[in-house]
Amino acid sequence: MSRTPSPLPERWGAVSQLFHWVSAGLVVALGTIGLYMTELTSPVAKIRWYALHKSLGLTLLALVLLRLLWRWTHAVPGAIPGMSRRLQFAADGVHGLLYAMMIAMPLSGWLINSTAGYPLQWFRLFNLPAIAAKNEHLNGIAKELHEFGFWTLVVLVVAHVGAALYHHLFLQDGTLQRMLPARRRPPGTSP
Ligand code: HEM
Ligand code: HEM
Repeated sequence: MSRTPSPLPERWGAVSQLFHWVSAGLVVALGTIGLYMTELTSPVAKIRWYALHKSLGLTLLALVLLRLLWRWTHAVPGAIPGMSRRLQFAADGVHGLLYAMMIAMPLSGWLINSTAGYPLQWFRLFNLPAIAAKNEHLNGIAKELHEFGFWTLVVLVVAHVGAALYHHLFLQDGTLQRMLPARRRPPGTSP
C-alpha cells in the first residue's frame, strides 16, 4: 500500500526570502556595530563606525518599507498546517512587532542625529534632512528610546529565532523550510 506523502507547506517567494535574510543580517550587524562603536576611544574610528552604522540603518529603513509594500501587493503563504490559532496569533504578533522595531530603531537613530545637530549622510553619497531641530533634552530622550528599543528588539529576535528552531528541530513541520530556497532534487530520485 502506498502512503500519500503529507503536503509540504507553501513557501515564501524568492523576493520575500531575500528581503527577510538581508534585513535579518542588517539587524544583527547594526546591533553589533552599535554596541562596538559606543565603546571606541579613537575619534577617527568612532566617526567611521558611526557613519557606517547610520548608513546601514537608513538602508534597513528603506528596505523594510519596500518589503512591506511588496508584502501588501503579493500573496503570502497560508497558515502553518497543524498550528493552533492561538500560536498563529502569537507568531503574527511577534512578526508585527519585529516590523515595527525595524522602523522605530532607524527613526529614533535619525532623531538622535538631528537633535544633536549633526548632518546625516548615506554612504557619503547624499545628505538627508533633519527630522527635528537641535535640542539637548530631546536628544537624551531619543538616545534612551534607541537603547530601550534595541533591547526590546533583542528579546523579540531571541523569541523569533527560538520559535523557528523549535519548529525545525522538535515539530519538524517545515516552517523553517518555508523561508529557505527549495532544494533541487537530483534527476531520477523520488520526491
Ligand atoms: C535597526 C536599526 C538599528 C539598530 C539595531 C541600532 C542599534 C544601536 C545600538 C545597539 C547602539 C548602542 C547602544 C545605544 O547607546 O543606544 C546604537 C547607538 C546609536 N545609533 Fe543605532 N541602531 C539602528 C539604527 C540607527 C540609525 C538609522 C541611526 C542614525 C540615522 C542610528 C544612530 C545611532 C547613534 C547616533 C547612536 C549613538 C547613541 C549614543 O551616543 O548614545 N542608529 N544603535
Ligand atoms: C537565524 C535567524 C532567523 C530565522 C531562523 C528566522 C526564521 C523565520 C521563518 C522560518 C519565518 C517564516 C515564518 C512563517 O512562515 O510563518 C520568518 C518570518 C519573519 N522573520 Fe525571521 N528568522 C530569523 C531572523 C529574523 C530577524 C533578525 C528578523 C528581524 C529583526 C526577522 C523578521 C521576520 C519577520 C518580520 C517575519 C514575518 C514575515 C511576514 O509575515 O511578512 N527574522 N523568520
